[in-house]
Parts: sequence; structure tokens; C-alpha cells
Amino acid sequence: MVEIIQISDLHYGSEFVPEYMENVISYIDEVRPDVVVCTGDIVHKGRVVQFRKVIEYINRIKEIAKFLAVPGNHDAKNSGLVYFEKIIGPRRSRMIIENKDTIIVGICSARDDMAEGMVGDEQLDWTGRCFNKNLENRIMALHHHLIPIPMSGQKFTTVRDAGEILEFAEIFEIDLVLMGHRHVPHAYVISWKDSTNTTFLYCGTSTSNKVRADDKPSFNHIYLNEGDLEVYMVNSTNLEKSLLLERKAYHTEFRRPRKTRIEHLLASAVWDE
Ligand SMILES: [Fe+2]
Repeated sequence: MVEIIQISDLHYGSEFVPEYMENVISYIDEVRPDVVVCTGDIVHKGRVVQFRKVIEYINRIKEIAKFLAVPGNHDAKNSGLVYFEKIIGPRRSRMIIENKDTIIVGICSARDDMAEGMVGDEQLDWTGRCFNKNLENRIMALHHHLIPIPMSGQKFTTVRDAGEILEFAEIFEIDLVLMGHRHVPHAYVISWKDSTNTTFLYCGTSTSNKVRADDKPSFNHIYLNEGDLEVYMVNSTNLEKSLLLERKAYHTEFRRPRKTRIEHLLASAVWDE
């Protein structure tokens, strides 16, 4: 079994709350996961000074656990990708945790000064070669969404070549795809035609007040074991934990943290007649 903490959208430099970050670090310190994955928007404006400040927190995480990060569109503002690579880490990377039979590949969906995301053929080719290794737990991380989420805004949410990445997830039997971007905790499970599954898991903003609707700042605590998956959403303000998704054999349970637009609509008085 591999144990992962997913954090995302730290947004250092705008509505970042140091107390939430301290909570996240203390949780990681207590749990001691195999790896911490950060799915982008580490800083708000791609500014060098923001990267230089936030790395102090990230270095504390790196002292506790292995750490992998991918850039988000906010990291790519103001030519920030260059400094992401200099200060945080490579924009795309592969991590193998041999004793946990696990491979994690982080890819860069962010482009200089663009809100929308794209992976591109060249990177897809690189990713394919990265996954060409027979390990049980197969995880991919990127910032933008592959499938839109209700009530997460409707502009620039998905990568332009999302279809290609979905096909990739099927062909390379990816168990779990981790994403951030619109600060909405969510999940989808797709069962492919040969009965393998991929779970698409989205993380909220872990350390900022940039939440949507009545969401709370949060991060994900994940257990993945040969296809079985348990995901807990942890509230960054008080470290309260709640089950977000459980997937075992032929049973999947997903507890959506809040009502969608359609559910609000269906609950409104106009539908009573
Ligand atoms: Fe963000």
C-alpha cells in the first residue's frame, strides 16, 4: 500500500494563510506518508520573491517526506516557470518508490502566461516512456482538469488535449490521476472496457481562502493498494477528516462535499409544481 498526501493551490502571495500551511505540515509530520504531491499553483503570480518565500515551507515538507510538484497556471505567470524549475523542482518528473511498487509521473499542463492548459504530443510521448515500467500503483499528476467539475467555473478548466490524456490513462492502466486548479474537491471513476479503472481526483486549495461556494480549504489523504483506493478530504483549518471516495473491487462510494448547480436547481421551489 502506498500512502499519499495531495496538497494543491497553495497560492502563496494571495489569500495564503500561514496557519493553514502550519496545519498541513503538522498533519504530514504526524502521518509520515510515503510521498507528498503538490498539484500546482504553489505561488499566485509566478514572482521570484514568492517562490523564494514559499520554498521555506516546502523544504520543511521535504525533510519529512518525498515530494513531487507540478506547476499550475499561476506559477507560470510572469515567466515564473523558469523560477519554478530553479527553486521548486523540474516542471515534469518521475518518481519511483520501489518498496511500495509505485510510480508517480508529474506532467506540466501550464504554459507561460496562459490560464488554459495543454500537455502536447512531445510531453505525452515522454510520459508514455516514463510509464513503461511494470509497477502496481500507477499515478499521474497535473494541474488542470481532464474532466470538468460542476460549479468550478466554466472557462479554462480543462487541458486542450484532455481526450488524448484520457486515452493514455486507459492504455497505460493509470490507477489515479491527481489534479488541482479550480479548488474544488471532487472525483470521477471511469471503468474502461477491459474492466480496469482510473480514478480522477481533484484537490481543493490547501492553504488559501480562495474557495468556491461553501467549500473549505482542504487537502487529500490517499491510500492506494493494488487498485483499492480510499481518499479522505482533510479540512486545513481544523484538520477534520471526512471520506471523499472509496473504491474497492466492484464497489465505489463517493461523497460529494457540496451541492452542485443542478442539485440547487432541482431543490428550488419551481420544481415543486
Ligand atoms: Fe489555483
